Amino acid sequence: MLARHGGDPQSQVYEARSHDRRPPTPPLTHPRPASPDARALPVSPIERFLALVDASCAEDRFVELRLSSPRAGTAGPERVLVRLIRLGGAAQLSFTRRETRRDTTQNLPLAQGLAQIRGELGAPWRSAWLSTTSGDWQLQFDRRDRPRLVAHAAKTAQAPDRAHDAKKQHVLGAEANDWLLALGILDARGQTAPGMGSKRQQITRFVEVLHHLARDCGWDAAESAPETPLTVVEAGCGKGHLSFAAWHLLHRVLRRTTRVLGVELRPELVATANAAAVRLGAEGLSFVAGDIAEPDVLPAVLPRVDAWIALHACNTATDHAIRRGIECGATLIAVSPCCHQELRPQLGLPAPLEGVLRHGAMAERMAEWVTDGLRLLVLEWAGYRTKAIEFVGSDHTPRNLLLAGVRARAPFADPARRRAIDEFRAFYGITSQALDPLLAARDG
Ligand SMILES: C[S@@+](CC[C@H](N)C(=O)[O-])C[C@H]1O[C@@H](n2cnc3c(N)ncnc32)[C@H](O)[C@@H]1O
Repeated sequence: MLARHGGDPQSQVYEARSHDRRPPTPPLTHPRPASPDARALPVSPIERFLALVDASCAEDRFVELRLSSPRAGTAGPERVLVRLIRLGGAAQLSFTRRETRRDTTQNLPLAQGLAQIRGELGAPWRSAWLSTTSGDWQLQFDRRDRPRLVAHAAKTAQAPDRAHDAKKQHVLGAEANDWLLALGILDARGQTAPGMGSKRQQITRFVEVLHHLARDCGWDAAESAPETPLTVVEAGCGKGHLSFAAWHLLHRVLRRTTRVLGVELRPELVATANAAAVRLGAEGLSFVAGDIAEPDVLPAVLPRVDAWIALHACNTATDHAIRRGIECGATLIAVSPCCHQELRPQLGLPAPLEGVLRHGAMAERMAEWVTDGLRLLVLEWAGYRTKAIEFVGSDHTPRNLLLAGVRARAPFADPARRRAIDEFRAFYGITSQALDPLLAARDG
């Protein structure tokens, strides 16, 4: 029987209560119904863990698996690192066994690799840590050989390169130097210009996350028709850094027919960005002056918008990007919020929080948390599968959260998700918010 304990919201524990030792194993079959949905997973911690490994491989969420803590008295490697690789077009599990003086590597087809892992759980390895882009899980055996499964938050949103022995490919490689130079992020020697290190890091990391999200959307050139145009709008694009980066990813890296439009309130920035795009011959990239909240800010000729993105668009401009993305049925919405001014004055003081929120700094942090939490709930209700990612280190910017949604379900279909929004708002005393038009439209 399996027990689940509450407590730390980052960790959930599943443990065997009776004699849930490693059972004689039923073989794993492929392909599995690939879903980490807790209700669909087996109850035994071991079977549950294996099902999570299996599903993360099938869904390309697998990051790595570590087998460690060898049973006392066992000779052999200190630990094993398992990677998911592509060899000759087929998915394989690559086992690297770390010994004191050398590593040995063995690549196995997926089913065989899973059987290998199954055979090593408990003995010799008393700990197995699975990292995926959607969550981490640790399977541990106690002194009496009882397995216990603990869920943790994902440490990374990025799946590694699957190419066997491939060098890490950077989205913004040397090919990006022309526009990085034109926007003043690089200097004439090709070095990061003074004061531009953080901005460079932000757009580099944002576009790397975008690369993975583009794969989630099926926009990877290998899997979709490159000639099908993709349209991206960036809200509050400033000088256009992220618009250029998104264009670079789609047009130059994924080789898709691309239209990227940056929208910015300040016409002088728009003029400079347009001039740079023309000078560099950046086909499909342009900028327009206007307020993202205004319905007619986008050119009438703009085709369907596939993605709405924003990097530090001020205050509610982030909400306008989310709302407009939802309204036009965009496949992808990815925003990194900036200042959070709208909700702070509205937030009530639910009794147990009062003593904490009298500190301005704490109230500020909660306002950010509540604003972004509400945004995620609205995206979920609108049919998006969401992620909240710290896309860059906080030393580069304290505004380092990225909220992403990939359209996955029929929008506005689940009354429970809508109730969650209403209850959340009521709890925090929220009376108005920039995403309200979406709610009002559904209230009829
Ligand atoms: C903090 S800057 C970020 C600029 C750019 N995304 C970057 O990361 O370099 C925010 C930009 O959003 C623009 N902005 C704010 N509200 C806007 C709105 N409603 N519509 C269009 N642009 C907006 C501002 O003029 C400003 O240039």
